Amino acid sequence: MPEPQVLPFAARAAGCPFTPAPELYAMQKEEELSRVDVPSPILDTFEAVAVTRYEDARALLSDERLQMGFVFDPDAPRSMLNQPGNLLNYNGADHTRLRRMLTGAFTVKRIRALQPVIEEIVAGRLDALAAAGPGADLISTFCTPIPTLVICELLGVPYADRADFQRRAQVGLDVNATREEHITNLVEMDAYMGELVAAHRRSPGDNLLGAIVRDHGDRLTEDELIGIGNMLLVAGHETTASMLACSSTLLLRHPDQLAVVRDEPAALDGAVEELLRYCSPAITMPREAAEDIELRGRRIRRGERVVLSVLVANRDRALADTDLDTLDVRRAPQPHITFGYGVHQCLGQQLARAELRTALPALFNRFPTLRLAVEPDAIDYRTTALVFSVNTLPVTW
Ligand code: HEM
Repeated sequence: MPEPQVLPFAARAAGCPFTPAPELYAMQKEEELSRVDVPSPILDTFEAVAVTRYEDARALLSDERLQMGFVFDPDAPRSMLNQPGNLLNYNGADHTRLRRMLTGAFTVKRIRALQPVIEEIVAGRLDALAAAGPGADLISTFCTPIPTLVICELLGVPYADRADFQRRAQVGLDVNATREEHITNLVEMDAYMGELVAAHRRSPGDNLLGAIVRDHGDRLTEDELIGIGNMLLVAGHETTASMLACSSTLLLRHPDQLAVVRDEPAALDGAVEELLRYCSPAITMPREAAEDIELRGRRIRRGERVVLSVLVANRDRALADTDLDTLDVRRAPQPHITFGYGVHQCLGQQLARAELRTALPALFNRFPTLRLAVEPDAIDYRTTALVFSVNTLPVTW
């Protein structure tokens, strides 16, 4: 068996961060299952089977023998990977019980009802952008605040607390933060969420967290409700901000594709799916085999960890017999796994889509001459974080 390579889950090519690292493509071609040493911000480096093929990823993510690698343990210290109420910390019946209580809050109907709120938030950020320029950083004025403000609405965070709230959301995903900083941040987040939950217990707000407290509060502990709030923040904030940042960057670099998003409402849904497939900003959590699993005649042994690269799986030729390495917003939508697959598939995906479909055309319609204010090579990408993104994006109009 080959020596494990040291590789993050979603390594990207040097100089072209939207492209998977060549090592990931090489693994995809191998018949053997590759083993990698995965560097981790929170744990020590660990060895895992690396899944890079689309079919393997879908088969494994829907195989109940492959479980979440980090299961909530009330006796272990609390961390981002050990939280009551966080769906990504549960398997089997425990996961189903919790997930059922949350799905009602994320139905298409509920997300549609949020549309006016999303439009108002987007309009507010467009005004802020106009006031800041011409010449502004698109990330801090537009891409990051939109999902933060949406989550603040879902949880009922008062306006005065929102800056602190956003800072904690970012520390939670910062790979350069130390273990101590992560723990301090989580303690702060817990304390704040505790206050929000207590306020909803007294009088459930007319928002998503209020609805969960009203409908299921008697079956959820205080700690679970706090963990649910933390999970929604961590899962829904940086991922959506990243998609807005990556999509804006790519579209500004490809004016012909930008024109489709701006001018062709009928093509918008397909364009958003292609941007999701192409950017693949998020990862799936590490999994662990609860039993031996046979995959294409190869064995994943019981107890082995498994990591998946959504990024390269979404470009696998098995997905479509065409060139999936180019961005083509007119491409027929592909069944990508940017939101994961199987029982842990993203609960907030319709909300994320609603934010993207609202924000992107609104931005390019309000600022028809929007363009990059730096050379494409000088764009400051965030390649080391768990969620790939862009740090700053200077634009002008
Ligand atoms: C799960 C991606 C937006 C809430 C996931 C997973 C992925 C993902 C890949 C599966 C993780 C795994 O299997 O290990 C994304 C992307 C987003 C996004 C790319 C934006 C474009 C959101 C939003 C919310 C959200 C807006 C809610 C406000 C969740 C939750 C889970 C999840 C609660 C856990 C589901 C479970 O374990 O049953 N997301 N997500 N996500 N996401 Fe998202």
